Amino acid sequence: MVSTRTTIGSFQFDNCLMNAAGVYCMTREELAAIDQSAAGSFVTKTGTLKERPGNPEPRYADTALGSINSMGLPNLGYHYYLDYVMELQDRPKSKNHFLSLVGMSPEETHTILKSVEASDYKGLVELNLSCPNVPGKPQIAYDFETTDQILSEVFSYFTKPLGIKLPPYFDIVHFDQAAAIFNKYPLAFVNCVNSIGNGLVVEDETVLIKPKNGFGGIGGDYIKPTALANVHAFYKRLNPSIQIIGTGGVKTGRDAFEHILCGASMVQIGTALHQEGPQIFERITKELEEIMTEKGYESLEDFRGKLNYKA
Ligand SMILES: Cc1cc2nc3c(=O)[nH]c(=O)nc-3n(C[C@H](O)[C@H](O)[C@H](O)COP(=O)(O)O)c2cc1C
Repeated sequence: MVSTRTTIGSFQFDNCLMNAAGVYCMTREELAAIDQSAAGSFVTKTGTLKERPGNPEPRYADTALGSINSMGLPNLGYHYYLDYVMELQDRPKSKNHFLSLVGMSPEETHTILKSVEASDYKGLVELNLSCPNVPGKPQIAYDFETTDQILSEVFSYFTKPLGIKLPPYFDIVHFDQAAAIFNKYPLAFVNCVNSIGNGLVVEDETVLIKPKNGFGGIGGDYIKPTALANVHAFYKRLNPSIQIIGTGGVKTGRDAFEHILCGASMVQIGTALHQEGPQIFERITKELEEIMTEKGYESLEDFRGKLNYKA
């Protein structure tokens, strides 16, 4: 019997596949559709202190090899998502969920997290330190000093299970420096990766999206090698208690298999879910199970992190 069950900390999931934040998770209706699909969980749209309209449209485009977006964190405010996950957690046989959050300043982030700490929410929090699409706001986790300060303060009051969503890193020294910071904190997980920030896609003589003169976060096929590198780099460097969620370029069972082989405990799908809809979870689960059966693996533990190197 092949199983794609997994755990993050003390939370169990019947399937390791789920949506990536920002895709199919803006409203209760979208979240309910993921919850009722074959996905093992959902993560909410990143919620900010106040509701945000986001950037002007068009702000998302499919491309031949994936997607470009500059949404600018449109969302209904963190309380909308907090209320929904709290409502679901009280239902019998509820799946476990992830609440994605960030403030527009460190102060706002602490205000939000203190409110979640004080609430009855019992699930996981994914703190988004990597949004590339808010004009004038850098991706937080590229600034190691600020990241260290935020985490240090967060863990002075926050006691619920919390992980962080990271931007892709591209240098071995940055993997080392980032991992040294993350290893100081009781993180439940790191999620690698958010979109590759500030790419530019040109069609004929024009950019594809309106905000920032066409610059936007890249997802899909383009980013799988970068995502796998980040998953594996942190899998090798982080304390074993900090698990890895793999995100980036997943559209087949083979892609999910590679993320797990590189060390992922859970795998998120963004662009491909946007393009195919929630039935994608059934297809990719089946494809992953077929690969596991072919290779004689019964559970994710049989191959997680067991990437072979050339002799
Ligand atoms: C339309 C769109 C909106 C996104 N919004 C968020 C977000 O609110 N929070 C976040 O952490 N990541 C966000 N992301 C990034 C995705 O969660 C994911 O990390 C990225 O798209 C890479 O995965 P993919 O290759 O499967 O698309 C967004 C991506 C897209 C395409």
